[in-house]
Amino acid sequence: MKIVVLTGSPHKKGTSNTLVQEFVKGATETGHEVEVIDIAKSNIHPCLGCEACGMNGNCVQKDDGNEILSKILNSEAIVFATPVYYFGMSSQLKIIIDRFYARNGAITNKHLKAALITTAWNNDNVVMSAIEKHFQIIFDYLNFENRGMVLAKGSGYVEMMPDEYYKQAYELGKNI
Ligand SMILES: Cc1cc2nc3c(=O)[nH]c(=O)nc-3n(C[C@H](O)[C@H](O)[C@H](O)COP(=O)(O)O)c2cc1C
Repeated sequence: MKIVVLTGSPHKKGTSNTLVQEFVKGATETGHEVEVIDIAKSNIHPCLGCEACGMNGNCVQKDDGNEILSKILNSEAIVFATPVYYFGMSSQLKIIIDRFYARNGAITNKHLKAALITTAWNNDNVVMSAIEKHFQIIFDYLNFENRGMVLAKGSGYVEMMPDEYYKQAYELGKNI
């Protein structure tokens, strides 16, 4: 299966990208083909809301967005990876999700498998509640099959991240 991973952390060696590596290990060991796209370092501008795409065509913007959308449409699974920023995803990641608008129907029709990997500093019952709900709603709206979410609390930097989340990310790769 072709899997696209969209990463939205500015820290190449931070917690969310560390868990992405575990995911990739599990997925490639199982025979999947994985492409990790560093959204945080890509050239992607925010959706202009211009409606030129009609939700069914290329975006007018000349950046990396259209190519990334093509890669998503050529895959069978999509994984989102982000640090928690103010109880939601990073704006680096949100920017590409808003650009899904240009191919909203095509993406919905793919019935992609989907997963979330997210990390946060805090370790309480509130920290993951909004981001988990947000992605559940996005997955439902886009007709994605939710294959799992790694919600790594108490993981503000790599050295403090509990081992259980490495295992969860690896298993998610194995079982997606
Ligand atoms: C702008 C910003 C907002 C943040 N907001 C939260 C938050 O709401 N809750 C939390 O627990 N941690 C928050 N953090 C901490 C990060 O989620 C945490 O350090 C995460 O592990 C960083 O992931 P990364 O290493 O993959 O970049 C925030 C960090 C930044 C820079």
